[in-house]
Amino acid sequence: MAENNDYQVLARRWRPQRFSEVVGQDHIVTTLQNAITQGRVGQGYLFIGTRGTGKTTIARILAKALNCLSDSKPVPEPCCQCASCQAIKDGASLDVIEIDGASNRTIDNIRQIRDTVSIAPVSSRYKIYIIDEVHMLTKEAFNALLKTLEEPPAHVKFFFATTDPQKIPPTILSRVQKFELHRMDWNTLNEYLQRMAEKEGLKASPAAIAAVARAGNGSMRDALSVFDQVLAWGGEEVTEKDVAALLGLTDREIISELNGAVVRKDCAKALECVAKVMEGGRDAERFILSLIQYFRDLAVLKVSNSPGKLLEESPEYLETLRKEAAEHTLSHLTQSIDELLQILPKLSSTEAKQTILELAVLKLIHIRSQITPDEIFQRLADLENGSVTREREKAAERKAAAPASGEQNPELSGDMALAKQLFPGSRPE
Ligand SMILES: Nc1ncnc2c1ncn2[C@@H]1O[C@H](COP(=O)(O)OP(=O)(O)O)[C@@H](O)[C@H]1O
Ligand SMILES: [Mg+2]
Ligand SMILES: [Zn+2]
Repeated sequence: MAENNDYQVLARRWRPQRFSEVVGQDHIVTTLQNAITQGRVGQGYLFIGTRGTGKTTIARILAKALNCLSDSKPVPEPCCQCASCQAIKDGASLDVIEIDGASNRTIDNIRQIRDTVSIAPVSSRYKIYIIDEVHMLTKEAFNALLKTLEEPPAHVKFFFATTDPQKIPPTILSRVQKFELHRMDWNTLNEYLQRMAEKEGLKASPAAIAAVARAGNGSMRDALSVFDQVLAWGGEEVTEKDVAALLGLTDREIISELNGAVVRKDCAKALECVAKVMEGGRDAERFILSLIQYFRDLAVLKVSNSPGKLLEESPEYLETLRKEAAEHTLSHLTQSIDELLQILPKLSSTEAKQTILELAVLKLIHIRSQITPDEIFQRLADLENGSVTREREKAAERKAAAPASGEQNPELSGDMALAKQLFPGSRPE
């Protein structure tokens, strides 16, 4: 495949040509199709969304639908056969002008557009300008554009796309209909890739595809180009191991499973996870590095609600991480990281990798089982805040019942007893 010079990357081959082929953006597709059927297509649209979610794709399909020759008026689904549809697909239509806002950002560039806007379309119903990355235009260019947007000739449509709508002046924003594209969630990516692999006759295991979908991280284009890389690298049959080896991904599912085992203090399950890592043929060092990264991410979420650049992940995954972080204390996390950092150098020079990993996960459980100073302080604080009154009342009752009960109060919870041992004399009566 790699030797074939005609090889077209999957993202291009799999660019949807019809609305029905676009996935994950039903809210936009339906609205646009309704607008066409009802003859209410606006003059300006702005598609907002992260890269590889379908902005350019949808803009082109809309252009085809408006100019399709299969009917005497715009159609809700382009035929993809007529001369107009074909020309737009090939980027050869004289009436659909695509402009990259990043490299045509000056006032002169926009003036050129303005000068051609009034000229009637060559052979189509509409003259359509698709301006990508429109937020890159200069202030002067936006001003020039605004004039055109205020009174566009009836035959002209503007479709804009941007990843960064904040940078577009409000005067422009108020003159267009805005559509926000969704990030592709993992399920959408996964299903799409499975379907694609089947149609292309690619041999890739479901687990491999699942990993590619994760690597896409919300972007269909990214997922498809990862797939291309994996195919070029892995050859005939793509396994999860190939994907992991290529991307340095370890399976988040295993890590998440392992975390669950640690939280539940389930040693058998934790050892099973290690076995899975080894069976999968993963690099043990790399796995530990991923685990360190994982605990680090949880620790970041422990100390920050909006981690921003510290932790760039999809909102869905952040949500999962947040839930997992809630099950740990910061002290558990830092101790776990410490522990893993210590075993890391041991892995490079030994045959007993599995044993070392096993020992490591058991230690993680051990760390989890220890009560940490953090926890003690937290529980003491809780007591001070709320339950202390109840405790006092109970203590008073106990005293009344058995005035000489002394130090070892059997009704004190285990943690409180421990707190008392650690901090003699600092505890509620
Ligand atoms: N919603 C989608 N449904 C199906 N494929 C998509 C979708 N969005 C993106 N893709 C894939 O990613 C490629 C790039 O999409 P594109 O529309 O250019 O993204 P952008 O939002 O960056 O403009 C397409 O050629 C297509 O293969
Ligand atoms: Mg684009
Ligand atoms: Zn057509």
